[in-house]
Amino acid sequence: MAELNLILLGPPGAGKGTQATNLTADFGLPHIATGDILRAAVAGETELGREAKRYMDAGDLVPDKVITGVILERVAEDDARDGFVLDGFPRTVDQADSLGKELEARERRLTGVLLIDTPDDVVIKRISGRRVSRKTGRIYHVDFDPPTHEGRCDVDGSELIQRDDDREETVRKRLVVYHEQTEPLIAYYEDLGLLRRFDGTRSPSEVHAHIRATIATLRLEDEL
Ligand code: AP5
Repeated sequence: MAELNLILLGPPGAGKGTQATNLTADFGLPHIATGDILRAAVAGETELGREAKRYMDAGDLVPDKVITGVILERVAEDDARDGFVLDGFPRTVDQADSLGKELEARERRLTGVLLIDTPDDVVIKRISGRRVSRKTGRIYHVDFDPPTHEGRCDVDGSELIQRDDDREETVRKRLVVYHEQTEPLIAYYEDLGLLRRFDGTRSPSEVHAHIRATIATLRLEDEL
């Protein structure tokens, strides 16, 4: 079976993390989430974390030189040999160029770029209700996907928290940054014939079903 190398693209709160978790369960692929890697580095007070924190708190992107090497190394690890789900990378044209070169050097290529299209007003509502387990990484929403017991993760009962960068003013800044720096990737991957669009205003299970059907088609096309 060919590799399944996927990128999830979309604004903050579009549901990239939610769908990446589903895809990991469906296909056994590692979920490589830049935001999670950076938040773990901040919590661990590593050099990467210290450097990244001020940008993340302000809703800005961490500089390309800080993040690109970390992700390219991660994609080259053994567990990503049969494929990966990249969530939050690339986020700039420079990052996309670096990823393309790295994959080409290893004679690998992307299977598809999955854009979860979601308008700004929906994103703002969603992010204010997001809760996450720091331990399991499971994502909830107080209205749209609540845990069985308030404030506790269904997986292991761990505490659910609100992310530091989920305050409304930071979310608005993250949206501006998305439109300016990340949105150009839509045309970039459209030109490469890799982009597939999904309506992010649908329910998580509808988005999931649509993505699965698209991946089945991508795999068939790959085998032809
Ligand atoms: P990161 O953690 O990647 O944040 P993001 O891209 O802004 O995305 P989010 O995690 O906020 O949202 P999501 O799309 O995963 O939505 P989710 O599934 O949680 O990055 C954080 C920061 O790190 C950046 O600001 C930057 O500073 C830095 N960074 C990261 N990558 C970088 C890079 N490559 N270069 C430079 N800097 C980088 O869903 C949101 C909520 O909605 C949840 O509550 C969920 O339950 C709910 N929900 C999901 N889907 C649906 C649905 N269909 N209907 C209703 N509710 C839904």
